[in-house]
Amino acid sequence: MPLSLDDPVRARLVVLASGAGSTLQALLDAGRQPGYPAHVVAVGTDKPGVGALDRAETAGLARFTVRPADHATRDGWDDELADQVEAHRPDLVVCAGFMRILGRGFLSRFPSRVVNTHPALLPAFPGAHAVRDALAYGVKVTGVTVHLVDEGVDTGPVVAQAAVPVLEDDDEARLQRRIQDVERPLFVDAVGRLARGDWAVHGRTVRLR
Ligand code: GAR
Repeated sequence: MPLSLDDPVRARLVVLASGAGSTLQALLDAGRQPGYPAHVVAVGTDKPGVGALDRAETAGLARFTVRPADHATRDGWDDELADQVEAHRPDLVVCAGFMRILGRGFLSRFPSRVVNTHPALLPAFPGAHAVRDALAYGVKVTGVTVHLVDEGVDTGPVVAQAAVPVLEDDDEARLQRRIQDVERPLFVDAVGRLARGDWAVHGRTVRLR
């Protein structure tokens, strides 16, 4: 994966988010650490007024919002989102709590360069309510999956995973908090490794070196 010519040391991350942005914050904090090989250059959302935009503003970053409701078709939204992302010349596009499915048009513009974090051990509990679904199913262990994004719903090749036990008195909020405590460092590490560029995909297997 090529790094930007204007900063050959650190990869450029464009982060997509839909919510509070605590995962984004972990990437922003990592980007300030000496030796971390990537930094966030812009933040995009699918709705206005979300915490992720406030965090981007506080960090002095470029930000943009592309709302599906402003586009007649899903493809139109997808194309506009890709245009906005591409304008910031990302080495990696990072979905950090982005609750939309990216289409073929978007993904074809950033092949093997879109990464997501999901709060379950995929392929269990894909979709928007992974923590709730894991609790409802009664599993004893759930966790986090970092994966490359393909056209399916949380179906792309797995980059990293970590397990989180489900405790007897867990409710959705408590389990989500414990998952996110594990998720943030795992995601920061995985994005850093992908940003270093020393990795390859063989079929469904991602090899990080
Ligand atoms: C994260 O836990 C992320 O795994 C999840 O949303 C949370 C975002 O929190 N993503 C999904 O569920 C995607 N299917 P944040 O807004 O505080 O970063």
